[in-house]
Amino acid sequence: MKAIAQAPSKVIISGEHFVVHGAWALAAAIGKKVTIEAEASDRLSVASDLSSGSPPSVLRPVSKVVEYMGRRFSFAPDLRFSITSEVPGGAGLGSSASTMVAVAAAVSRLRALELGTKDLVECAMVGEREIHGHPSGVDVAACAYGGVLRYRPGSDPKPVRFEGKRRMIVVFSGSSRSTKRLIGHVADVRERLPAYFSALVGSAGDVASIAEERLEEGDMEGLGRVLTYNHAVLSAVGVSTPRLDRLVDLLLSLGCYGAKLTGAGGGGSVLAVASEGREKRIISEVMKRGFEAFVSVIPVDGVKSWLRP
Ligand code: MEV
Repeated sequence: MKAIAQAPSKVIISGEHFVVHGAWALAAAIGKKVTIEAEASDRLSVASDLSSGSPPSVLRPVSKVVEYMGRRFSFAPDLRFSITSEVPGGAGLGSSASTMVAVAAAVSRLRALELGTKDLVECAMVGEREIHGHPSGVDVAACAYGGVLRYRPGSDPKPVRFEGKRRMIVVFSGSSRSTKRLIGHVADVRERLPAYFSALVGSAGDVASIAEERLEEGDMEGLGRVLTYNHAVLSAVGVSTPRLDRLVDLLLSLGCYGAKLTGAGGGGSVLAVASEGREKRIISEVMKRGFEAFVSVIPVDGVKSWLRP
């Protein structure tokens, strides 16, 4: 018997980095997925289809999640895992969070633990901390619950619901980055300029709620303005790069309503919104310039798992 689990990846619409310091952020699950197969074995082993973009750095954290679950729910962690990922590693799209959530769900299914989403999040965070040091948990929450979420550490995530679908443009800059290093960089800014930083954390929550309202209303033009504002603030705390700035400018020049880096920055991906019907042309223009790009229609479901004989 095998257990299969599939978790979506994510984008941060507003509030990355400031969420680590207590601000509310707005995040959405997107359709690129990580799939995990788990089955009984004589020892714990993890294999990854590396060609699919899943980085070797997730292999040890996966083992940590499984060992933690074995101790907590009293079973021997002798399981074999295989990982297939549609999510490029280091792209700021939550490939590690998606992997950890899918692993926790596959183990829960295989061992008939029947864990709810809150418990899956707690288990997945064991692996995320191994990779990122002190993450806020927003990535794991988005990949586990799916949909669109308002999130801040220590509060229950708040689902954001709206009629119909919204379309998000995602462009991978082609350079990957370390979330842990960038979280450290922002913590240094906080140390050096505490009053400035606390003003930014305070306003990040307000900006995330404006982004939430615009998204609910389907006002993509208004949402775009909030995205571009977000990018400027992230640039001001030093997590953008000239390449990301150029990509944001390119997307704006192609007619996007707004664009910003998404996730930790330092490389990774840019998120943009445009008027309906225009996205295809924008994607083809950025792909012509050598970038990987796609449109994700949100909301998408959170993690799912099932058994296969
Ligand atoms: C990374 O997707 C989001 C960050 O805010 C880190 C975190 O919240 O753990 C940069």
